Amino acid sequence: MNNNGRCIIDARNIVKIYQTPYEELKVLDDISIKVMENDFTAILGPSGSGKSTLMNVLGCLDLPTMGEYFLDGVDILKAKDDQLADIRNNKIGFVFQKFNLLPRLSALQNVMLPLLYRGVEEDEAREIAKEKLSLLGLGDRLTHRPNELSGGQQQRVSIARAIVGNPPLLLADEPTGNLDSKSSKDAIEILKELNKEGNTIIVITHDNEVAEQTKKVVFIRDGRLSQEG
Ligand SMILES: Nc1ncnc2c1ncn2[C@@H]1O[C@H](COP(=O)(O)OP(=O)(O)OP(=O)(O)O)[C@@H](O)[C@H]1O
Ligand SMILES: [Mg+2]
Repeated sequence: MNNNGRCIIDARNIVKIYQTPYEELKVLDDISIKVMENDFTAILGPSGSGKSTLMNVLGCLDLPTMGEYFLDGVDILKAKDDQLADIRNNKIGFVFQKFNLLPRLSALQNVMLPLLYRGVEEDEAREIAKEKLSLLGLGDRLTHRPNELSGGQQQRVSIARAIVGNPPLLLADEPTGNLDSKSSKDAIEILKELNKEGNTIIVITHDNEVAEQTKKVVFIRDGRLSQEG
């Protein structure tokens, strides 16, 4: 147990309700979670349990209906839009379940984007992005657009994009969901390596084998979090 580290994520009593034409759907039900610096936590749960919704809240992409959320000490519910954008750009790397790659950009350009947003020079951004894509085995697919890549390759481009700027916090939503078992192992190894280097990582998954590779597992079911499965 690490009592001395910095608290990166402190979410308290998070509720997310979606209003549909027919009903109110409580998708996150009183979720509290703390994540300390350099933790490597899996959030494990079945389809529809609220995992992606939770990632969107923790990643400041969506606000909870109720609750409190402090990210690295910042009160997210009180933060302004530009402050939230700044946090997303500089502090968080996202691996989205559906990749969210820009279709008209090449793999290389997609991976360069977070660096360009931060003001890194284009030549430098290109070199760093190439390096990350090569690390993920895509050195020979740099100019391919997303629709010219397999699902697993798109997944790896999205991992490269998430880690290219060395964000202190990595949120990965089913990062191995579209990978064969070999690429899946490689992807987890990359996350482990990043964690060794000091990154704080949250992996969202329905896969026990992925969760087993992390340092800590919490379970989500019907929008509720628990320490036991
Ligand atoms: N915008 C929305 N409006 C209404 N309901 C939604 C919305 N987004 C998600 N839901 C519902 O919330 C529940 C949780 O969805 P979520 O995407 O968080 O699940 P998940 O655990 O990520 O599932 P999966 O493993 O299949 O990706 C689902 O029942 C879904 O239908
Ligand atoms: Mg999901």
